[in-house]
Amino acid sequence: MSATWTRKDLLGLRDMSREEIELILKTAASFKEISTRPIKKVPTLRGRTVVNFFFEPSTRTRASFEIAEKRLSADSLNFSSSGSSIEKGETLLDTGKNIEALKVDLLVMRHPASGAPHRLARHIKPGIINAGDGTNEHPTQALLDMLTLKEKKGKIEGLHVAFIGDILHSRVARSNIWGLTKLGAKVTVCGPRTLLPVEIETLGVNVSTDVDEVISEADAITLLRIQLERQQEPFFPSVREYAKTFGITVDRLKKAKKDLLIMHPGPINRGVELADEVANGPHSVILDQVTNGIAVRMAVLYLLSGVIGKEKSKDVDSIAQYSSH
Ligand code: CP
Repeated sequence: MSATWTRKDLLGLRDMSREEIELILKTAASFKEISTRPIKKVPTLRGRTVVNFFFEPSTRTRASFEIAEKRLSADSLNFSSSGSSIEKGETLLDTGKNIEALKVDLLVMRHPASGAPHRLARHIKPGIINAGDGTNEHPTQALLDMLTLKEKKGKIEGLHVAFIGDILHSRVARSNIWGLTKLGAKVTVCGPRTLLPVEIETLGVNVSTDVDEVISEADAITLLRIQLERQQEPFFPSVREYAKTFGITVDRLKKAKKDLLIMHPGPINRGVELADEVANGPHSVILDQVTNGIAVRMAVLYLLSGVIGKEKSKDVDSIAQYSSH
């Protein structure tokens, strides 16, 4: 069954259907070709305004959204908490209301508080795309991960995908778990017990602390960075010990399937969660993930702007109705 897109916001994969996820992946696949043209631009979002609203550092997500917006000919504006009136005490809601008053169509938002984009979406008209909220979700990262899996393996259903590292603080793992299980993949999470959320198996995943066993069974492994910036207390004795116990090395990969995919959302802590030779080696599809981020974000901007467009054209119709009386 194919879905039609009806949402003004993309907040997470938790409440999204399999059909909606597949629609985004199919749309993203069709947008990939634009980035291979000498002139990498189409007029699809001409006249639309997108604000990139980042309250946390970002390299990949922010650059990828900006490029996606430019390739679709949208007018875009970058905005961060530093240097804005948020530093003077303005609330998130007031800032959002002011952005709405500027007649913006879409807001791409990264925020350290889980649920911040969900709250704003309930109060303002522009469509909101969650570019990572606290430890909750990072839906476009999971979508680009799924697009990469689909391209490299030809399918997602039946694949065994593992996540190794700091699962507790990972919005990437959470969005991937929602998305991959809906698409029929088997998901395993692995890491130190202290970095595995209590009752995570209730989300339909397997839980392991045996990294070598996981390596030998998986079709794809996503390594997750230890998010020291979100940890108030030590979750393991030392980074050196973590690297020794859970870090992926060439030696460890001897037990892996020949066509294992090594993935990472970035930024990588080389020598901690994975060795240089693995990050740069033949199993790695890390930079393919980055490339696929543009197509996924173009697809999301395109689908959401179609819904905002319909609301707009209704407004225009009603204005025309009033002016004819
Ligand atoms: N994958 C990811 O979210 O990277 P950035 O923090 O650089 O955006």
